[in-house]
Amino acid sequence: MLIVNTVKALKEAVLQLKNDGKTIGLVPTMGALHDGHLSLIRRAGEENDAVVVSIFVNPVQFNNQADLIAYPRTLEADVEKIGDLADVVFAPSAEEVYAVPPTEKYDFGALEQVMEGPQRPGHFNGVGIIVKRLFDWTTPDRAYFGEKDYQQLLIIRSLVKQCGLSVQIVPCPIVREPNGLAMSSRNKRLSPAQFEVAANIHRIMLASTQLPDNTVAKAKAYVEKEIAKISEFELEYYAIADKDSLQSTDTLNNAIGCIAVWCGDVRLIDNIMY
Ligand code: PAF
Repeated sequence: MLIVNTVKALKEAVLQLKNDGKTIGLVPTMGALHDGHLSLIRRAGEENDAVVVSIFVNPVQFNNQADLIAYPRTLEADVEKIGDLADVVFAPSAEEVYAVPPTEKYDFGALEQVMEGPQRPGHFNGVGIIVKRLFDWTTPDRAYFGEKDYQQLLIIRSLVKQCGLSVQIVPCPIVREPNGLAMSSRNKRLSPAQFEVAANIHRIMLASTQLPDNTVAKAKAYVEKEIAKISEFELEYYAIADKDSLQSTDTLNNAIGCIAVWCGDVRLIDNIMY
């Protein structure tokens, strides 16, 4: 595995792979890798001749400075976990990525007006900026994103469409802890007690898919009521929406439930299909 820190070295490595006739799978990450990331990296390895993993805590997508500072940075351990699962690891500095200042403005329309959008102003534009740059530098055949960040996945599909890129976006299922909590780099910031409490998020959402004579209103009210019973939680939103448009829906057919909830000072997101 080759570790590169500059765009120039990344492009050279990519050129070499392409000259060898290899297809490339890109897995963009912010590091602090867990089994969810490793499942993306493995899948990229199964479907491509070569795998590039990027590790970059992208300041431009953080609207909350405290969150950016607290975000775990574990490059050495990440590289060890990747081992021989990737051919190239791209781990640049912010100066390298933003040698050209990030002034791009993307319009994701109604997709960014809901859920994470209003809660985290500028977040999706920041994601669009970094992902577009990574796509330009790596020119992957396929790129892998976890379904935990479901709205991000749809935003990236929109980015690909509006920029006319040929990269295939591959969504990968949420990987859960044995207790049901969706794997996330932010889980590292939970205390052992909070980690157990946080398992209730998935338990409650799952139960909300199985209510008798279920409706959107009933499922939403159930989640809101059950989350409110747990003192460690503060619910930011629970939205049930059409899973393609993320706009509100009055039927559970083709619907997804998306949650953002604070557990102490850690913000967790998760989702479930109805
Ligand atoms: O999902 C993430 O970890 C990030 O948003 C991504 C896609 C790597 C862009 O920084």
